[in-house]
Amino acid sequence: MVMNDDLIGGAVGPYELVDRLGTGGMAGVYLARLPGDGQAALAIKVLALRSTDRAAQRQRFLREAQMTSRLRHPHILPVYDYGESSGKLYLVMKLIHGGTLAERIARGPLEPGEVAAILTQVAGALDYAHARGVIHRDIKPQNILFDAGGDAYLSDFGIAQPGDSAGAEEAPGFTGTVAYASPEQCRGEELTPTSDLYTLGVVVYEMLTGTLPFQGSTPLAVMRQHLTGPVPDPRAANPALPPGVTAVLDKALAKRPSARYRSAASFSGALNRALYSHSQPEQPSVERIALAASAQPVRPPGPMPDALRLRVTRRLLAVVALLLALAMVAAALILTFAR
Ligand SMILES: Nc1ncnc2c1ncn2[C@@H]1O[C@H](COP(=O)(O)OP(=O)(O)OP(=O)(O)O)[C@@H](O)[C@H]1O
Ligand SMILES: [Mg+2]
Repeated sequence: MVMNDDLIGGAVGPYELVDRLGTGGMAGVYLARLPGDGQAALAIKVLALRSTDRAAQRQRFLREAQMTSRLRHPHILPVYDYGESSGKLYLVMKLIHGGTLAERIARGPLEPGEVAAILTQVAGALDYAHARGVIHRDIKPQNILFDAGGDAYLSDFGIAQPGDSAGAEEAPGFTGTVAYASPEQCRGEELTPTSDLYTLGVVVYEMLTGTLPFQGSTPLAVMRQHLTGPVPDPRAANPALPPGVTAVLDKALAKRPSARYRSAASFSGALNRALYSHSQPEQPSVERIALAASAQPVRPPGPMPDALRLRVTRRLLAVVALLLALAMVAAALILTFAR
């Protein structure tokens, strides 16, 4: 989409647009200021409505923007305001300066420590949103931004709309970005929090290997891979990865939603263990301790040593008492016969 750069120097709603920060598939993002509010710089996303389906797009955008603006989490990019002005929809966000995860991945695979740190932050943000009934719908490296200190922020919650993305002409009704799309997303089904977890799995795969798990010459070919293709072993692309990472990504990218991780935090925890457990002496897991215990030959519990001692003492006393009784009987007999 070609955005009209005449917007620079003009205004959208009460905001003055100063410069262009970037261009996405459906919008332009601008550096903006609110006159009378000092010099605080903001980021404003301006979306032009498609010619068809305008009312539905508008309604959906405003509903999602309202939900998103209520999310408050240290790793969700804050939305300060949203609205409509002269046929354009806009979303006002915090301005951050550390670039996107897409730019980081373009420089090659990330170090495991960086991946673990980013996933921990993004996972917290995603579980928080899911707990409030908000599904992201378009997780991808372009929608993970960094501040100057390197902290990650998840952005663009829920504003992807059917037909916005690459491949929409070949797959009408498709929402999101085909390279990161879950199998259910490819089938055009209702998305759930678990769909976001699959998509996050694709992003983690890409961070660790520098490549996408599923590729193809057309969007439909990529979708076919999501639907039926086995997950390529990430260690083929990055042999430095520890072996446990393969199983973690297999589970994150399971075709069946019920076979995936239940939360972003459990995905993040499993990846951390896979990345770090191999280099240290392995900590026995609860399951392994239970297994080891069940492998021991089963012996009936013996008597307690104290109880044993008590039984022996009692027997000795009984023998002594019997001997005394015999001695007394013998003495009585001797005395009787001696008279
Ligand atoms: N809050 C922000 N602060 C600074 N730069 C931003 C901000 N939001 C977006 N950008 C920049 O604008 C670019 C375009 O963002 P936008 O969300 O429109 O596109 P996208 O995420 O690449 O694609 P899509 O339209 O599918 O979401 C980003 O890649 C980023 O460089
Ligand atoms: Mg975006």
